[in-house]
Amino acid sequence: MEVVFIKLKSVLADVKELAREVGKYQLNKFNKKINVTEKTSYLDLVSEVDKNSEEMIIKWINNHFPGHNILAEESGTKETQSEYTWVIDPLDGTTNYIHGFPLFSISIALMRDEEPILGVIYVPYMEEFYSAIKDKGAYLNGQKIEVADKKTLKESLLVTGFPYDLNEDEYNNISIFNHLLYKTRGIRRLGSAAYDLALVASGKLDGFWELKLNPWDIKAGVIIVKEAGGKVLETNFHGHHLIIAGPNIITDNIFKEIKDVHNR
Ligand code: IPD
Ligand code: CA
Ligand code: CA
Repeated sequence: MEVVFIKLKSVLADVKELAREVGKYQLNKFNKKINVTEKTSYLDLVSEVDKNSEEMIIKWINNHFPGHNILAEESGTKETQSEYTWVIDPLDGTTNYIHGFPLFSISIALMRDEEPILGVIYVPYMEEFYSAIKDKGAYLNGQKIEVADKKTLKESLLVTGFPYDLNEDEYNNISIFNHLLYKTRGIRRLGSAAYDLALVASGKLDGFWELKLNPWDIKAGVIIVKEAGGKVLETNFHGHHLIIAGPNIITDNIFKEIKDVHNR
């Protein structure tokens, strides 16, 4: 196996520049007439902006790191022998974007084997740039960030999302949502899992959970939350991927409540 030493700090600077360029393109097209098609259902959409954004990112990766693997939402995978993989969601929050609701983000992670070592989440409309390098902390627009210090669910404001197959499968998060609503100060549904994780990392929200997400939705967010001092739990829950993130105690408490709901 190829072992390559990558200078993550300089890679991060380049990835930020790339994300800024993609964000500029997305803002340019925002609220304009664009081509939209359905993927799996009327809930699951993709636009020309998703595809073009991804193309810009993949072109950059192929230019700078032609030997690396790529896992990208819209165009699938490129497999090489490298230990490094780029995991990309070119536009997280497509439904928001298409409806002219300005919360959407670009999520780019670099993994070494199974572990994210660099993550960038850029939220163009908010001009918020979240980033982390393994063991080097997490940052928002150059300022160090930390997860909140909440200790109980009662004082916590959480955020979640719902899967696109919610009409077809009972594991659609609605019973968990109903249960947790009574245990917390509130639950938000913003429509971009990457941004949800970034908001938890910066302590504006206290905890996040969601079922059935894909690596491209979360890998950048996972390292950003961890580097911000939070705990991320990824597990198989009744055959489905479940992610929970937040301050240590909040993550554990959310998991306890979720288990209660499905064991009743
Ligand atoms: C979606 C968003 C949303 C989450 C969905 C995701 P997309 O990603 O992250 O917040 O609830 O499960 O699929 O389709 O906008 O990239
Ligand atoms: Ca996504
Ligand atoms: Ca997407």
